[in-house]
Amino acid sequence: MHLKDKLEEARLNKKAILATNFYNFETLKGVLQAAKNSNSPLILQLTESSINYMGLENALNMGRTGLDYFDVEGWIHLDHGGSVELAKKCIEIGFDSVMFDGSELPLEQNIEQTMKVVKMAKSHNINVEAELGYVAKLGQSTTKMGYTSPDDAVFFVKETGVNALAVAIGTAHGFYKEEPKLDYNRLKAIAEVTNIPLVLHGGSGVPGEAIRKAVSLGICKVNVATEIKNIFMKKLQQLLAENNEIDLRKVFPPAINAVSHLIESKLKLVQ
Ligand code: 13P
Repeated sequence: MHLKDKLEEARLNKKAILATNFYNFETLKGVLQAAKNSNSPLILQLTESSINYMGLENALNMGRTGLDYFDVEGWIHLDHGGSVELAKKCIEIGFDSVMFDGSELPLEQNIEQTMKVVKMAKSHNINVEAELGYVAKLGQSTTKMGYTSPDDAVFFVKETGVNALAVAIGTAHGFYKEEPKLDYNRLKAIAEVTNIPLVLHGGSGVPGEAIRKAVSLGICKVNVATEIKNIFMKKLQQLLAENNEIDLRKVFPPAINAVSHLIESKLKLVQ
């Protein structure tokens, strides 16, 4: 099934699909193992940095082969595409879904550039996600406010024709200093006026109950990245501090399993 249809199905059923970033073979294996064990679909996300690290074609092929090998229903998605050119490359090479992130641009420019991506994606039947509002990226201020307005959202969706919209309702990328407080009334209002699947960025560190509630109010895609990197590296650091093993095939599996357990727990929140 195309991702846009799957997301629409999730919206009608008040469910969500988990979207996990991967950085290398080991983190990919961890998230796929979790999806397989949970019998869940999964969106595999790649940021521009991960694409640069693994190579575009290689990263795409790793994701695709992994989905086939683990027999998981899944899709390859560009996370936070920062330019129309990168989105174009991903569309042409065979991604299932792209995000164009113009959230830091003035509204008119965000609309104009998002529209270009929607136009390119249409002929390939590819899902397009855009972002409206300020969801702090790693290193950006989390005190600055820039929540998505329902009026802007409805205008943006009508003008651009995007399939999914990332909204700013109180989450931020990376870990939180304090427990995040989600603006559920705003989420509900945006969902009611846009009638398209909404996306929650900054899923790491958001309490399970908050994720469940957000899903019940219109979030259909929940993004998790930082917690994956964190648990993988923490486990690896602990293992390496404890022994001098040089056979990496013995060192990596506990870190892969730690990712897998984390993602199994996240998958339970969205189904
Ligand atoms: P976290 O890194 O906070 O989990 O956010 C992930 C994300 O939203 C990717 O787009």
